[in-house]
Amino acid sequence: MAETFDAVIVGGGAAGLMCALTAGQRGRRVLVIEHANKVGKKILMSGGGRCNFTNTGTTPANYLSANPHFCKSALARYTPWDFIAMVERHRIAYHEKELGQLFCDESSKLIVKMLVDECMAAGVRINTGCSIERIVRGEGDSGFRVHTTQGAVSSASLVVASGGLSIPSMGASGFGYELARGYGHTVLPTRAGLVPLTLSGKHQERLQDLSGVALPVTASCNGRSFSNQLLITHRGVSGPSILQISSYWQPGDDLRLDLLPGRDAMDWLLTQQRERPAAELKTVLGDAMPKRFAQRLCELWLSNKPMKQYNAPELKQLAATLSAWPLVASGTEGYRTAEVTLGGVDTDEVSSSTMMSKRVPGLYFIGEVIDVTGWLGGYNFQWAWASGHAAGVAV
Ligand code: FDA
Repeated sequence: MAETFDAVIVGGGAAGLMCALTAGQRGRRVLVIEHANKVGKKILMSGGGRCNFTNTGTTPANYLSANPHFCKSALARYTPWDFIAMVERHRIAYHEKELGQLFCDESSKLIVKMLVDECMAAGVRINTGCSIERIVRGEGDSGFRVHTTQGAVSSASLVVASGGLSIPSMGASGFGYELARGYGHTVLPTRAGLVPLTLSGKHQERLQDLSGVALPVTASCNGRSFSNQLLITHRGVSGPSILQISSYWQPGDDLRLDLLPGRDAMDWLLTQQRERPAAELKTVLGDAMPKRFAQRLCELWLSNKPMKQYNAPELKQLAATLSAWPLVASGTEGYRTAEVTLGGVDTDEVSSSTMMSKRVPGLYFIGEVIDVTGWLGGYNFQWAWASGHAAGVAV
């Protein structure tokens, strides 16, 4: 006889562990199946090893989805403060870095330990190094029989928490998407998000040797703007502003950088002309951004001369270029370095309150596998916790 569970959860990542501990605390018999050798690998590597585990400013507006309303219910029922309460109960020290982003003072390991301890206290079984061989639905729509490399189990509910495609070396797989398709679900096209952009040809050559230079910018594309640091890399550009805008950018889209963020470029140039008439543009710009970058701008994109020699139309042109400098990206670094996967299981076919499939009773989708993707800054974990909790109270 196969062992019987109330819920089998495929994937021991952020969403799967949250779902497991929530269901376990309700007295449900829960099994987590994780194919990697340990659970929570992405949590461990997140936030530079300190896990940006939530964002206190989380709202549905911080997420991308074909249906922007879908995430509202789960986010409202499990808030950042609910997760913070658990973190505090486990005496994990944390701090706010910027813009509501909460990080562990010590290590992401503490977040994984907290989730696993909660699972153990709730009687959850976790099988690591365990792969799914085949899943068979029970007769009359009653549950699932899950055949794994560690034996077969039966379960009333099957929760897909297998995450997205980013960082395949950490255990990411297309399992959830394939399973969803197999049960007749629509899977919206997936692509890498929160990912560095690549440059090619002359665009790359012009910046490549500035690799390591960082500057504040406002990156804008398709009606979205993010103000934060940009980092020039060997292959292109990265940094928080670029990672954020990458989720809204697709090849061919117009991407602009305001190189004087927070300032009116024309006012600033006029002030510089009045106050430093003999100074050259590259010197003046070098006080507002890294000198090497200012010099490169003046060599390749702007005409350099003493400020007093610019006439009004020229200043206007300078201001226009500096506040909307076109960045011609050729692509992204892809899933190898992306933090998240955009797209995924279509939310139209999933209940927003329970995360249960509208096609297959007892089948649930949570976390990144669904077409809900957060901005950079702790929003993706908050979605994993909230959607995991929503399914955890339902299974
Ligand atoms: P997650 O990927 O966490 O878990 C899925 C699990 O399923 C994995 O353990 C995987 O091995 C397992 N699995 C896959 N296929 C399987 C199969 N067939 N059988 C069994 N198991 C299977 N977010 C944030 O809010 N703050 C941050 O600081 C960061 N930092 C960060 C850094 C880096 C480098 C990355 C790549 C990502 C982040 N993120 C982040 C994003 C965040 O990690 C991500 O959104 C969540 O982990 C998603 O949670 P899930 O549980 O959905 O997937």
